[in-house]
Amino acid sequence: MPVPQQSVAMTSTRSPAIEAKGLVKEFRGPEGAVRAVDGLDLVVWPGEVVAFLGPNGAGKTTTLDLVLGLAAPTSGTVRVFGKKPAGAIADGQVAAALQDGGFLRDITVFETVELTAALFGRTGSVTPFLERAGIAQIARRKVGKCSGGQQQRLRFAMALVSEPDLLLLDEPTTGMDVQGRRDFWTAIRHDAEAGRTVVFATHYLQEADSYADRIVLVSHGRVVADGTVAEVKALAGSSNLEDVFLALTADRADGTTTATTAEGVNR
Ligand SMILES: Nc1ncnc2c1ncn2[C@@H]1O[C@H](COP(=O)(O)OP(=O)(O)O)[C@@H](O)[C@H]1O
Ligand SMILES: [Mg+2]
Repeated sequence: MPVPQQSVAMTSTRSPAIEAKGLVKEFRGPEGAVRAVDGLDLVVWPGEVVAFLGPNGAGKTTTLDLVLGLAAPTSGTVRVFGKKPAGAIADGQVAAALQDGGFLRDITVFETVELTAALFGRTGSVTPFLERAGIAQIARRKVGKCSGGQQQRLRFAMALVSEPDLLLLDEPTTGMDVQGRRDFWTAIRHDAEAGRTVVFATHYLQEADSYADRIVLVSHGRVVADGTVAEVKALAGSSNLEDVFLALTADRADGTTTATTAEGVNR
């Protein structure tokens, strides 16, 4: 029965890198429940570079945590290459550079990346990863002596050593200097061209404009616009991404966002 077998194989290789359906995450705090993610639907296909944009508190970090399986959804589902997050992580398909990942401050940059490689069972030299992250020249420096931007580069190197199919980056260039950002995006685009899927949260709209294939704009835990940079700009009738961002995330008096009219480019 060659035809059904082939179609099964095609289906599995074509699983979305990320598929979130009706994703909800509620936190209970002293002020009551907070819906950080409120019915988020998202499909990211392999090879896409997606910018995840939204105001502070929109739910970007929480969504990335759900995709990584670091938090469990209150309701809804998330699949990574067709698997539960833990399965995709166990298979080495996903890596992340998160904002608040802790470091061992008394070991060197080189040792940190080597330790990460060992955790992933990778044996070869880690030097190419240090070079790609632009920290080969500070390899012998203690992590605790690195600047914020250098630590961001180190997070990036740590995410690269596992050679993931999907790379999740939470505000990856915060604290990096101009050259650092340029080097970082050159490395990301290079890997994306080789087929890696990249989802990054950022507040630098210029980075989304220049480097993303697609923009997913979130507000109050929901997707309010989703499309190519050109599509999202057209939706708000402006070529300035900052204007688009403000128009689509502005809160209205009734508590919804203006962007609920953004269905046109919602996928
Ligand atoms: N562990 C937590 N406990 C309680 N509230 C949280 C927790 N994590 C996030 N939140 C709240 O959820 C909302 C979304 O946060 P977050 O996902 O960090 O947004 P973003 O990354 O888009 O700035 C915010 O209101 C935040 O205060
Ligand atoms: Mg965040």
